[in-house]
Amino acid sequence: MVEFSLPKNSQIGKGRIFTAAPGAKNVKPFRVYRWNPDDGANPVVDTYEIDLDTIGPMVLDALIHIKNNVDPTLTFRRSCREGICGSCAMNIDGENTLACLKPIKDVHDAVSIYPLPHMPVVKDLVPDLNGAYAQLRSIEPWLKSDTAPPPDSERRQSIEERAELDGMWECILCFCCTTSCPSYWWNGDRYLGPATLLAAYRWIADSRDEHAGERLDALEDPLKLYACRTIMNCTQTCPKGLNPAKAIARIKELQLERKI
Ligand code: SF4
Ligand code: SF4
Ligand code: FES
Repeated sequence: MVEFSLPKNSQIGKGRIFTAAPGAKNVKPFRVYRWNPDDGANPVVDTYEIDLDTIGPMVLDALIHIKNNVDPTLTFRRSCREGICGSCAMNIDGENTLACLKPIKDVHDAVSIYPLPHMPVVKDLVPDLNGAYAQLRSIEPWLKSDTAPPPDSERRQSIEERAELDGMWECILCFCCTTSCPSYWWNGDRYLGPATLLAAYRWIADSRDEHAGERLDALEDPLKLYACRTIMNCTQTCPKGLNPAKAIARIKELQLERKI
């Protein structure tokens, strides 16, 4: 029988336990992934017992409390606290989501918190998104027009043309979808992933853009686009309620339509 063993540094060790203050009555444990590339040690999961009566309602409130009051070395990204900047994306209770929009009360028992899966980790809960942003840049996510001279004022759209962009302009590039996609896990170096493909379709569908054909040409690739197997994890996990799988299906339809 074949035996598999994990590389030494992929094994997660037991971490420290930070107990709640004496007298705390509404205590919940938070199990948080910790990894510091500078200490050469394996990752661990630290447990922080937090008195929920002393913090706000969201998982991000707990992380900020831990950093400010318990363990200042805990590292994570956050900015807006309103589900707008996308920076607090992480895996909470087994699901990719935004820590600032995830109510603690929705998690039964301990709250487990890990970085977005299948991405390199910079430190603790901070994923390395350089590759994902390079892929986003590759689809040239900006208006491309050859009309000369450019208009003096805004480029106008009808109400219907503008409505075509609904469900896409709201994307905050948190990459919860991309990092929940099995096709991206296995082929992330070639497959663009749902967040970038949603952005690609956003520009293909924009009535003001004059390069839709060229954009479709660039996606005509067995892996860049067609590695999507319509598994739908992306749509299920999107914390903004968007449907990247539908956008991907629409790109495939357009590619087919122009061949017949
Ligand atoms: S529908 Fe496509 S992009 Fe979305 S999770 Fe499935 S394979 Fe990934
Ligand atoms: S589609 Fe949703 S999950 Fe994906 S990057 Fe945009 S907001 Fe995040
Ligand atoms: S902090 Fe901005 S989306 Fe959560």
